[in-house]
Amino acid sequence: MIDADSTTEIVARNQKYLASTYPRGDMAFVRGLGTELWDARGRRVLDFFSSILCTNLGHCHPAVTEAIREQAGKLVHLSNLHHSDPQSQLAERLVGTSFGERVFLCNSGAEANEAAIKVARRYGHARGGRFEIVTALGSFHGRTMATIAATGQEKVRRGFEPGLPGFRYVEFGDAAAAQAIIGPNTVAILVEPVQGEGGVVPPPPGYLEELRDLCDQRDLLLMFDEIQTGCGRTGTLYAYEQSGCAPDVMTLAKSLGNGMPVGAMVAGPRAADALDLGSHGSTFGGNCVTNAAAVATLDVLNDGETLPRARRAAERLWSGLRDIAAPHADLGEVRGQGLLIGVPTDSPERASTIATRALELGLLINVTGMGVLRIAPPLVVTDGEIDEGLDLLRGALSS
Ligand SMILES: Cc1ncc(COP(=O)(O)O)c(C=O)c1O
Repeated sequence: MIDADSTTEIVARNQKYLASTYPRGDMAFVRGLGTELWDARGRRVLDFFSSILCTNLGHCHPAVTEAIREQAGKLVHLSNLHHSDPQSQLAERLVGTSFGERVFLCNSGAEANEAAIKVARRYGHARGGRFEIVTALGSFHGRTMATIAATGQEKVRRGFEPGLPGFRYVEFGDAAAAQAIIGPNTVAILVEPVQGEGGVVPPPPGYLEELRDLCDQRDLLLMFDEIQTGCGRTGTLYAYEQSGCAPDVMTLAKSLGNGMPVGAMVAGPRAADALDLGSHGSTFGGNCVTNAAAVATLDVLNDGETLPRARRAAERLWSGLRDIAAPHADLGEVRGQGLLIGVPTDSPERASTIATRALELGLLINVTGMGVLRIAPPLVVTDGEIDEGLDLLRGALSS
């Protein structure tokens, strides 16, 4: 049992012992339920960030918690040299709800993208050794060496050179630029259907379909990083469903286990057999408990009520945010998709002042991109919580 320490003790211990890779602020949270979080001082905060988009069903969703409890009492882990039921159930659901044919299970977003990158390399090896992957400027695909190479932001690679070769970056939303950069070595295009970390940037109409056509014409794999956009975040189970086309490969993580560390690389017909026996692995990939959580999460997302309710919540929140933003000259147009919402401000400093003030008032939001407020409550957020969150944000903007 972990003792219930005070905020001061928790913060001091973290500052002393953890690698200092994150700016963590000075609050320590100890409990969550639905949209609500409580800190070690007993203060309640509305979580409109869903713990960095990992708790789409809200904190401690009863069905997920029950699945974790039940599986933890049965079998926590089994090696991938044997069959276990939770991963078979999860893979079946992922295939059954998507374009996919085969699934590689892992533990994080970066690991899911690593698998996708390896699929692309294998696909290229079978076609004369093509290896280059085109990704978008402003994208974010993870923090491992391959995924920082895939990420179209120089700052994540700085100081870690030499990087993994084989990535080329083009403007997000510009299919003509993607076409122009494709060369004899190109094997795949990897994009987020809505850029998340890059500032909640939705694609221009037709962009993803144009990439699909391009990939079909040039025998390239189209790979969607749905780590942030997946699991109902944009209003459909997967964001690609709203694009008019399906990718060949999709990666998921973040909310797949509603807070449990689980990732997946889903491969469609053209890519399904790229990873063959012995070509890839992950000791904890397909872990019984995390996969049981993911099965429960997908079952709630597919219950026929959660996604329509999330779409209604998104309408209410968008409308409220537009009303709030309109009179503020320093706020730009509300953008995003579903409950993945960005409100641009005129500077990173202004955005972080607003987020800090909001947290003081009891609303947790985040800043991403170049000064964009990222607002992403759980899909189960109630109308009352939306209105409360909007009031708190109004307060943060005017103080
Ligand atoms: C689109 C996208 N891809 C990949 C990742 C990396 O995921 P993880 O931190 O689980 O490795 C993230 C994380 O923010 C993400 O937003």
